[in-house]
Amino acid sequence: MTNIGVFGTGHVARAVAAGAAAAGHHIVFGSREPDSRKDLGFPVGTLDDAAAHGDIVVNATPGTESLALLRPLAARLDGRVLLDIAVGLTETMELAHPNSSIGEQIQQALPATRVVKTLCTMDANVMAAPQRLSRPGTVFLSGADAGAKAQVADLLRDLGWAEETQLDLGGIHTARGQEHLALLFMGVAGALGTYTFNFDVVRS
Ligand SMILES: NC(=O)c1ccc[n+]([C@@H]2O[C@H](COP(=O)([O-])OP(=O)(O)OC[C@H]3O[C@@H](n4cnc5c(N)ncnc54)[C@H](OP(=O)(O)O)[C@@H]3O)[C@@H](O)[C@H]2O)c1
Repeated sequence: MTNIGVFGTGHVARAVAAGAAAAGHHIVFGSREPDSRKDLGFPVGTLDDAAAHGDIVVNATPGTESLALLRPLAARLDGRVLLDIAVGLTETMELAHPNSSIGEQIQQALPATRVVKTLCTMDANVMAAPQRLSRPGTVFLSGADAGAKAQVADLLRDLGWAEETQLDLGGIHTARGQEHLALLFMGVAGALGTYTFNFDVVRS
């Protein structure tokens, strides 16, 4: 079983924590206000506490804030796997990193951290519950470190994403495509009237 630190205590953080805990992993949330986050069902500490706990650390903070939150933790995150789910969106739901991605920027700012971008192309209510869908569809992975991606792939399997649903896109530069899918995601959600769906890559 893996120790998992989770940055943030919002929708994504709670969904991934619940799924990972159900698979037997040990969760510690990292919050800006740990003393006022009491009823989450798992220990809540500072971001530094969560980083210290996690063999894998999940970034579930707003993509517009993640760099400022993570930079001071660079030494603590040295060598750790950072499973990054963040997307940077402005208040008017435009891309905050139109020619880049927060995944790339975190990797650049924290070169010793092993960043893997995944799960950001679907809603929080699907991230650890693909069984809610008629079929799971595709979950994407982006990152430079093959060992880190293998660890994240194992965790994804525990969250319900069988190996054949996982698609490794390559290096961290491919995180840009995942994050920018947010625009299409919002369009599809509007058209369907629900967030409970996923994209599915169909092969020949
Ligand atoms: N919701 C989705 O379905 C979904 C889908 C794909 C990607 N994402 C991405 O996943 C990340 C988390 O999304 P979410 O829906 O879980 O967001 P959320 O419910 O707003 O939670 C974000 C959490 O980040 C922490 N945080 C740290 N700095 C913050 C700040 N300056 N302002 C607000 N919160 C701050 C907060 O925890 P504390 O207050 O305890 O510190 C907060 O609970 C975002 O980057 C989002 O774009 C979300």
